[in-house]
Amino acid sequence: EIVYGTIRWKEKLRYCLNLFLSHEIKNKKVELILLIGIYQILHLNSIPDYAAINETVELASIKFDKKIKNLVNALLRQISRNKENLDFPDQKTDTSRFMSVNYSYPKWLIDKWIDSYGTKVTKNMCISLNEHSRATIRVNQNLIERDKMLELISSDCKPEKTKYSNVGIHIDNQYKIINSNLYKDGYFSIQDESSQIVSLILDPKAGQTVLDACGAPGTKTNHIAELMKNKGTIICCDINNKRLRLVNNDTKRLGSTIVQTINADAKDLTFNYKIKFDKILVDAPCSGLGTIKKNPDLKWNKNMDDINNLSSIQIGILNNVSRLVKTGGIVVYSVCTLMKEENEQVCEEFLNTNKNFNIDNNLPMKYEKINRLLDRNGYFSSLKYLDHMDGFFIARFRKI
Ligand SMILES: C[S@@+](CC[C@H](N)C(=O)[O-])C[C@H]1O[C@@H](n2cnc3c(N)ncnc32)[C@H](O)[C@@H]1O
Repeated sequence: EIVYGTIRWKEKLRYCLNLFLSHEIKNKKVELILLIGIYQILHLNSIPDYAAINETVELASIKFDKKIKNLVNALLRQISRNKENLDFPDQKTDTSRFMSVNYSYPKWLIDKWIDSYGTKVTKNMCISLNEHSRATIRVNQNLIERDKMLELISSDCKPEKTKYSNVGIHIDNQYKIINSNLYKDGYFSIQDESSQIVSLILDPKAGQTVLDACGAPGTKTNHIAELMKNKGTIICCDINNKRLRLVNNDTKRLGSTIVQTINADAKDLTFNYKIKFDKILVDAPCSGLGTIKKNPDLKWNKNMDDINNLSSIQIGILNNVSRLVKTGGIVVYSVCTLMKEENEQVCEEFLNTNKNFNIDNNLPMKYEKINRLLDRNGYFSSLKYLDHMDGFFIARFRKI
């Protein structure tokens, strides 16, 4: 909790620390110790300030001399005394700086999000991505119904049906359930609700031929196999052979019998024989910023160069594999990120260069709730709605 919290709130903690300093602390280890203390003072109500301060001063004294120990002690006491009256940037006149500090995100990212989605959506995304993430499981419907599974999960885990996926259950404690025989015997997988929605939007049918172009470690491949009732063929391709080997572990556990793996670069994937796919999923490599809730370090580690590089890989993969779909077939593009460059812009570029594809929103009636989340361009973007999911962007194209 303290490690994740300190990483998550780093920008805000640093800002608060600097309010009480005349010059920056050069030693990064001393700064980190201070941030750990400030996190507990500002965000952990379960620990009284005096205990957080004592523990942090103790921590400082293990590595540093008395001078540093006294500095840590004095600064944390000052922050604790003044914590209700900290002087934040003005929300009206300096909105993006305020949001960057108050919600703790790099300012470049806040500026980008405001530019792409507006202030209100950006605020929602910031709040949602700072929440503690609940684990979600995907029930293997070939083995058990969701309602039956709900009965088998201990009430300590507070199981609760997901709102949009018809096979998901939120739980409080994934570690308890992951050690159970239910997991070993393939009754469920761990998968966020928004990630489950990807394969639901692909809507594969029993007997079809499906390509999962960036498929390792196989979470969605296996969901697709479950939806196809293990009838038909799925080719799971990935450039990373080590990750690809993980696919086989899960197909065995879940009893998916229709999956073949191939190690290839989807940017130049071709098939010698004249195979055409009914459905293709491009769950592309991306900056992952929609999973900040689970991986708060991502917000400090990514930059626009990464995003632009990924964007050209994504368009390269989409352009190439879309050639392999049948006329009338479906290509779904998905990424767990919230950057226009990796989301809407990739789709626009794809549609501009591939005039034989349209956006397709004809999901079956059973997915009516998902349909309601599509925006006016027909794109699905989970985080704009504060639904406690990871941030996923999904587009469904049909070859005409
Ligand atoms: C978001 S992950 C896929 C997750 C997977 N669909 C699942 O649900 O388990 C993206 C994957 O794309 C793979 N990848 C990256 N570049 C690729 C390329 N040029 N061709 C094929 N796979 C690629 C990565 O190795 C990674 O496994």
